[in-house]
Amino acid sequence: MRRPIIAGNWKLNKTSSEAVELIKGIKENTKEYDVEVLVCPVYTVLGKVKEEIKDTPILLGAQNVYWEESGAFTGEISSKMLIDAGCDYVIIGHSERRQYFSETNETVNKKVNAALNAGLNVIMCVGETLQERESEQTFDIIESHLTGGLKNINSEKIHEKLVIAYEPVWAIGTGKTATSEQAEEVHAFIREKLETIYGTETADLIRILYGGSVKPENIEELITEQNIDGGLIGGASLDAVSFSKIINTGNQVFNKLKS
Ligand code: PGA
Repeated sequence: MRRPIIAGNWKLNKTSSEAVELIKGIKENTKEYDVEVLVCPVYTVLGKVKEEIKDTPILLGAQNVYWEESGAFTGEISSKMLIDAGCDYVIIGHSERRQYFSETNETVNKKVNAALNAGLNVIMCVGETLQERESEQTFDIIESHLTGGLKNINSEKIHEKLVIAYEPVWAIGTGKTATSEQAEEVHAFIREKLETIYGTETADLIRILYGGSVKPENIEELITEQNIDGGLIGGASLDAVSFSKIINTGNQVFNKLKS
């Protein structure tokens, strides 16, 4: 059975003192880590957060990366530098990066490739906009995000290090969650595509997270679905109490499903 991941995407939020307060609050309110727990703060506080989580199983991730290792690329950061700062994971191809920072399937592919080569775990995001959903393009968009983002990335390379996050753009930060049936339908489609690319054995190991207005109230219903292996959480991860509730519920559901 796949171990679920509860991942917090802090986006452009939290100064260092606020970040320390948040992570301390999460530690106080969570004792068990049956699910994998991950927080993804801004670059400038990675070191501080790492310091706070070093004696816990909580993992650290970044929200973006560049594909070159070093050189004249002002403002960028490499996988090697993220690992050096204590990162285990990196989020790649979030819809906000596609929308505001011109990321394409090609740049996502270069980043995924570089991050996996360097040894980072990757959460690659896919998801359709409202307009795409309404014009019945959801599955085409998801397929193009998957095949484009994973181009020439073979199964040895991904080796349990690849995670996919399905984040319908219309559900991000809007309070509008996809119903668990809507999400499961797309997750099952993603699993099927991963099977085509990597074969059943590998596809079965890849965790597929749902993201888009995940809250303590809806996490149970979502992760009970067969192909939903956790959540990538924005807004609700900025509050220690609500993020901890999501983790604690995740643990309970996972233990119930296992037994
Ligand atoms: P949200 O964000 O939980 O605030 O909707 C999710 C995400 O963008 O990763």
